[in-house]
Amino acid sequence: MNQLPFITDAFLTIVDGKIHAFGPNHEAPLDGYEMMDANQGYVMPGLIDAHTHLVFAEWRNREFEDRIRGLSYQEIAARGGGILNSAAKLNQLSEDELFDRSFIRLKQAMARGTLALEIKSGYGLSTESELKILRVIHRLKSVVPIPIKSTFLGAHSFPMKYRENHDGYLREIIEEMLPRIASEQLADFCDVFCEKGFYSPEETDRILTAAAQYGLKARVHTNQFTHSGGLEIALKHGSISVDHLEVLNDDEIQLLKKGTTHPVLLPFAAFFMNLEYPPARKMIDSGLGVVLASDFNPGTSPNADLAWVWGLACNQMKMTPIEALNALTINPAINLGIDGQTGTIAIGNDAHLLLTKPIPDLSFIPYQYGNSWLSKIFVRGNPDFLDSDNLN
Ligand code: NIG
Ligand code: FE
Repeated sequence: MNQLPFITDAFLTIVDGKIHAFGPNHEAPLDGYEMMDANQGYVMPGLIDAHTHLVFAEWRNREFEDRIRGLSYQEIAARGGGILNSAAKLNQLSEDELFDRSFIRLKQAMARGTLALEIKSGYGLSTESELKILRVIHRLKSVVPIPIKSTFLGAHSFPMKYRENHDGYLREIIEEMLPRIASEQLADFCDVFCEKGFYSPEETDRILTAAAQYGLKARVHTNQFTHSGGLEIALKHGSISVDHLEVLNDDEIQLLKKGTTHPVLLPFAAFFMNLEYPPARKMIDSGLGVVLASDFNPGTSPNADLAWVWGLACNQMKMTPIEALNALTINPAINLGIDGQTGTIAIGNDAHLLLTKPIPDLSFIPYQYGNSWLSKIFVRGNPDFLDSDNLN
């Protein structure tokens, strides 16, 4: 995780939106290219966000204030706030309006350097609303030429009417949602929020078993507040990832080492929720590779800026700047199955690239915490892709 090959004083050529060649500057081709000077900046792959809930209706800053006044996340959820509050707002919104709001957020994330991402449903909690979110994600995929993966998270919370009838909602997920999502090819993965007060390990198991029958690989929210048992279920299903892991003991690290499931760490959510940070240093020192992501959502992580995640990973979780960069590029590319397309500077990859301002060293990005560091953003080689919109 701590290796990063780089070339000082380099050239890089882009042809048809792809990386065509790169190397030391004295080998640069002289003719036939439009030239751009990097002005002492670094050229690096676009950042990749492997865990977001970017499609939501409204912010939840009222609940932020409730938490400041002393209510806990679980207390807010128990009285119908939290995820249920988001679902109520989303239910009232048309698909077009949801798309417009989400597209603005996507462009803002791109303007911060995120050039590939995963987006989850989970603020619908009914067949129609979950499908509405997944269709919005599908539309987002069609309007920006960057990789977007979509995850069905119908099991994010129990809707009010199923509070006392978990089986009823599980049947809706398994018998109604999954078949329609599969037939419309609306999801790449299936996620469950396995946590005390949300989904039990048994319920998680049932959903992931059904999802697998539709060819949907698992990703699992687990160990955010408690040792919920989700880790064991995720590993049993060969889950692509286990996400959060703020609460993780040494035995669970050993379990992870035995499997192929990637740990996805979300330090901005831990920061925002005043939780312990996941034991990233211990995990890496024990030989695990980790992925970092934003968890961008209105409840626990209202900021999609991966430079903040980079800063927190270094300063709070003691990852080196290079480990954290790998956890934001090559590792999530592998996790999302888009390596060979993006996540590294390699010939033939799509030229989703970032050019930094002149900085003495890459460590300046996490060191200066969200200070403006980007000079140019190339989307398929186009440095003007984001300029036409008001992105700030
Ligand atoms: O990843 N943990 C579950 N889901 C989100 C939070 C959802 C919300 O509060 O809206 C998360 O933190
Ligand atoms: Fe999440």
